[in-house]
Amino acid sequence: MFINFWYPAVASTELTADKPVRVQMLDHWFVLFRDSTGTARCLADTCTHRGGALGAGRVRHGNVECPYHGWQFDGDGRCRAIPSLGPEGNIPPRAKVDSYPVQEQYGIVFAFLGDLPEAERAPLMPIPEYGTPGWRANLIVFDVHCNFERSMENGLDPSHNEFVHPTHGFEGERGDYRVPDLDIEDQAWGSGFMSVFRGREHANLPTRTAMRTNAQGQFDPDVSAGTWHHGPAQMVTKIHMAGTNWMHQYLYECPLDEDTIKVYLVNLRNCLLEEEKDAQVVERCLAVAHQDIAVLEKIQPVKTPRSATREILMPADGPIARYRRWLALWEGRGWRLDSRRMQSARTERDVVYAIPSPGRRLARNWVLEEAPLVQSGVFRSRKDKR
Ligand code: FES
Ligand SMILES: [Fe+2]
Repeated sequence: MFINFWYPAVASTELTADKPVRVQMLDHWFVLFRDSTGTARCLADTCTHRGGALGAGRVRHGNVECPYHGWQFDGDGRCRAIPSLGPEGNIPPRAKVDSYPVQEQYGIVFAFLGDLPEAERAPLMPIPEYGTPGWRANLIVFDVHCNFERSMENGLDPSHNEFVHPTHGFEGERGDYRVPDLDIEDQAWGSGFMSVFRGREHANLPTRTAMRTNAQGQFDPDVSAGTWHHGPAQMVTKIHMAGTNWMHQYLYECPLDEDTIKVYLVNLRNCLLEEEKDAQVVERCLAVAHQDIAVLEKIQPVKTPRSATREILMPADGPIARYRRWLALWEGRGWRLDSRRMQSARTERDVVYAIPSPGRRLARNWVLEEAPLVQSGVFRSRKDKR
């Protein structure tokens, strides 16, 4: 799991004015709440007094209030009230908690989990079609019990469709099947490809068939489709059917821990635009997702092996190899969390880490220890890099 990227924390509709939401991301706990202006805010969940869970408290005067002894923290993470000191009490500056940048887009509240200054941050993966005429969007949220890298690699994998998705291929029954040569392209924060997939008609899937019917009213077996990842856990899959019927699926994945992801899928389509078609389209997307999930949840080892000799990659796995190169680059920058050390702290039960927030570059004296990061050969530690 990687710090210094944007992650989806909660759907906008789930974050009301009066109640904080406690969420797990990157194997850490966070609290999301709306301040007095209605702006979504994100803090580390652990109260600096004696470890209460802020997300189990309430929102008061635009601050989040710890349920244990009522300490209040504002959206910047500053402690604003310590009731036991009385109204005139002096609040120690060290009582602060980490505060993370937030943006609300596409019906999702995103948090930037890391300490990079704004100018150096990767942008959130944009959705240019969102809100434009001729496109309709649906947000679909679901959990998958697999490692996020396995899920991303599945999205970037052109050779699974033939076997995993009956509507995208021939389930291994086509004699002349092979994955065409891939033209993998790099972008600013990732890479991807577009290819052609052949599938057959399924009369019992009217939504699918309608999208794959061309202007002449005939079923078009060929689908142009491709996927690009943006950062370690965001990707877009573009599916172009019957020439002009397009579906663009923007996936923002949040690793809850190494074993589980919450997927925020913003599904856009430029056909079947009627609102009453939403339910059918969402049902179809989830049916396809569950075909993937059935495979993903059984993959061993759960995480990608650290040694390249523990798998055999083929040319069709090229986009996956390229994704792994990007991960190695970000690991080299000191952004990969050290899960082994996090796990051993959990076993001992006497340490809770915080993902470093931008405020840690401006001030010292924090109560929570910084989460451990994998130390690559390039930088001995994240502090050396500063
Ligand atoms: S633990 Fe939060 S106020 Fe005491
Ligand atoms: Fe798939």
